[in-house]
Amino acid sequence: MIFARNPTIATPFVAPLFTLLLSVVSVTAENHVSRVGDIPEIGLGTWLSDRKKVAHAVEYALDSGYNHIDAALIYRNEDQTGKGIALAGVNREDIWVTSKLWNEHHRPDQVEAAITKSISDLGVDYLDLYLMHWPVAFVPGEGTKIDEETSIFDTWRAMEDLVRANLTRTIGISNFAKKDVEDILDMCNICPYAHEFETHPYLQQQDFVDFHKEVGIKVIAYSPLANTNPTYHSGLKPILQDSFWKYMADKKEATVPQVVLAWGLQRGTVVIPKSVHEQYIKENLEALDIKLTEDDMKAIAEQDKKTRMNDPGKSWGVKLFADLDDPTDLDENAKGKEL
Ligand SMILES: NC(=O)c1ccc[n+]([C@@H]2O[C@H](COP(=O)([O-])OP(=O)(O)OC[C@H]3O[C@@H](n4cnc5c(N)ncnc54)[C@H](OP(=O)(O)O)[C@@H]3O)[C@@H](O)[C@H]2O)c1
Ligand SMILES: *[C@@H]1O[C@H](CO)[C@@H](O)[C@H](O)[C@H]1NC(C)=O
Repeated sequence: MIFARNPTIATPFVAPLFTLLLSVVSVTAENHVSRVGDIPEIGLGTWLSDRKKVAHAVEYALDSGYNHIDAALIYRNEDQTGKGIALAGVNREDIWVTSKLWNEHHRPDQVEAAITKSISDLGVDYLDLYLMHWPVAFVPGEGTKIDEETSIFDTWRAMEDLVRANLTRTIGISNFAKKDVEDILDMCNICPYAHEFETHPYLQQQDFVDFHKEVGIKVIAYSPLANTNPTYHSGLKPILQDSFWKYMADKKEATVPQVVLAWGLQRGTVVIPKSVHEQYIKENLEALDIKLTEDDMKAIAEQDKKTRMNDPGKSWGVKLFADLDDPTDLDENAKGKEL
């Protein structure tokens, strides 16, 4: 079963009825019957979501039309995210839940315990997608000390077993360089369904996005609102105050976050904006109603600043994103504690 390569899986929001039916048929062939089928194109992010606010944010989002939650063990709020899922009036098979394997659980004998913890905290029986959070292994219990013994291939094989054990419907990767993606594709038996990485108007990486389309891996765009995450310090003006984007928003009679997200959707990426405010959560979902013209898309392409916001490579002493825009510069001083 190579989920990512299955050509009958179509994007539910845009699929004509017949491809939608086909995708339901192929999903019922999965071990877990799911009515969401493919990954929904908008999800709610939960990194840095306050433990006291995230349950309500998740409940509100699911009750307002979201059907996709992006979680991770390292966000230290999966139990609260799980409370939100439980409070919402939705059936498990109607929502998509993603979680991520943290770096200190990369050893093959730790992988199943890690997913079991996330599944239990989230209060579900299985995940829809489990991602290798970073292509970096830490020695368990020794902070960020790099585990030279454990390769991404060792970890990937252990993740394949999670699909065989019905603990997750699909598996994927996050924050991989292009070479790492190619290497995983060369060895996988169950191949990556999705790759979650930073991409937004200030770090467009269009070639990299196109490459994933060619090889049949979905792209989940994280930090889709660029430098809006308050822990980011890029030196760029906040995108919410960027005159180009304010102009685009006025033209579409929408807000800046809505047109930024609409661009992410229209280029075929899944977007996972994070918020703990009802108004923003609702506003962001309405990005689905905005259509950009080909000229709009061309003008936006020219706004790329090739600026990465999230790079913990320096503090870990690892050169990340080596073959991509704005790779880790190990000579610079460490930027921060970003995940
Ligand atoms: N795989 C990875 O390594 C990785 C790395 C980074 C992020 N992610 C995932 O991607 C998700 C999104 O990325 P992110 O959290 O970095 O950044 P983001 O979603 O691009 O931006 C989040 C920030 O924007 C604010 N915001 C959201 N909607 C808004 C609106 N309509 N108007 C004004 N402000 C708005 C939020 O405010 P409030 O929260 O105050 O409402 C929050 O401060 C994360 O939560 C996480 O799930 C994954
Ligand atoms: C996984 O689910 C399928 C379908 O329900 C079942 O046949 C199989 O035995 C399950 N495998 C495990 C390891 O539980």
